[in-house]
Amino acid sequence: MEAKGSDTSFTSVMTLTEKCQQNIPEQYVLPPSQRPNPTLVPTSLPVIDLSMMDHPPHRSQLILQLHAACNQLGFFQVINHGISSSVMKDALDSAEQFFDLPSDDKMCFASADVHKPVRYGTSMNHGVDQVFYWRDFIKHYANPISEWIHLWPSDPPTYKEKMGSYAKAANALQKRLMEVVLESLGLNVDYLHDDIKEGSQVIAVNCYPSCPEPDLALGMPPHTDYGTLTILNQNHQGLEIMDHDKTWHHVPFIEGALIVQLGDQLQVMSNGRYKSIPHRALVNVQRKRLSIASIHSMQLDKKVGPAPDAVDEQHPVAYKEGSFGEFLDYISAKSLTEGNYIDTLKIP
Ligand code: OGA
Ligand code: NI
Repeated sequence: MEAKGSDTSFTSVMTLTEKCQQNIPEQYVLPPSQRPNPTLVPTSLPVIDLSMMDHPPHRSQLILQLHAACNQLGFFQVINHGISSSVMKDALDSAEQFFDLPSDDKMCFASADVHKPVRYGTSMNHGVDQVFYWRDFIKHYANPISEWIHLWPSDPPTYKEKMGSYAKAANALQKRLMEVVLESLGLNVDYLHDDIKEGSQVIAVNCYPSCPEPDLALGMPPHTDYGTLTILNQNHQGLEIMDHDKTWHHVPFIEGALIVQLGDQLQVMSNGRYKSIPHRALVNVQRKRLSIASIHSMQLDKKVGPAPDAVDEQHPVAYKEGSFGEFLDYISAKSLTEGNYIDTLKIP
C-alpha cells in the first residue's frame, strides 16, 4: 500500500460485489454506535410545490413554507420543479451504465486529489477513512458546463448528453430556489446574484451496490454538504436526515420529486439562522441504489461570510469568511469524522 492520502488504487464496491460474498469485508463494518438504527419512527417531512412560485397570490405562502422547512430542518422535497422525469431518469440510467463498466474504464478517472475537477473513487476519502463506506462515486464540475463537460466520461457514449441535460436543469433550478430561500431569510433577492449565477456546481454521482449486511455498514457517514444548496435525484429510498432532537429520519421516496438540502455556506450566509442538515446514506440487500447530488456553492475562491442584513445587535457576526477552495484544502487531509470545516469558521 502507498502512503496515506496518495493511494489511487482501490477496490470499488462494484468489484467487491461481483464476488458474491455473504459477509462484508471487515473494513466496512462500523462500530456498533455508528450503525444504522433499524427501528425508526415514521415522520412526515416537508414537500414544497414549486408551481406556487409563479402565482403571486401563492408565492407568499410558498415563502412561509420554505422558511419553516429551512428554519426547522434545512431540508425539503420539491415537486412541480420543472425538471422532466425523463431528464431525471436518463441521468440516473447513464450513471448506472457508467458504474457497470469494467474497472479499468473507470480507474482512469481515479484520484486521491480532492481538487481534481473529475474524480472517481470509493468510500468517502478512502486514503484517510478509518472505516470504508459502501459507495462508489464519480464527481465532476459542471458550471459553466462548456468549461468542464469535455473532461467527463465518454463512456457510456450518452453520458455527457444525459448527465449534461440534468446538470443544466439542476443549475437553473438552484438559481430559482436561491431567490426564494434568500427571500425567506428576509435578504434581498439580488444578494450575491452574480456569484450565485457563476457559482460552482459539483455533480456527485453515487452508486450504492446492494449490500449483504446492510445493518453493519453505511453508504455514507453522517455529514453536512459544504455548499449553499444540494439538489438530490435518486432512484430508490436510502437517505436519512437528522433533526434537532438528534434523531435519524428516513426520507421517503416520492416519484418525480427532488430532495433539497441546505449546506454549510448557507448557514454562514444566514449567520446561523438556517442550519445545514446532517445526513447519511443507508444501503440495502435488495438492490443497487443510485443518486446524483448537484452541490452548489459560490466560486472556488469566493470568500463568503454572513450577509450584512443577517447581522444586527441580537445576531452579531457568528462566522468568519470561508471559501469552497479552503474547504477542499481542509478535507484533503482529514476523514469526515475528524471534524467539520464550518466549525473552524465559528466565532466563539
Ligand atoms: C452526497 C450525499 C446522499 C445520497 O452526495 O453528499 O449526501 O443519498 N448523498 O446519496
Ligand atoms: Ni451529502
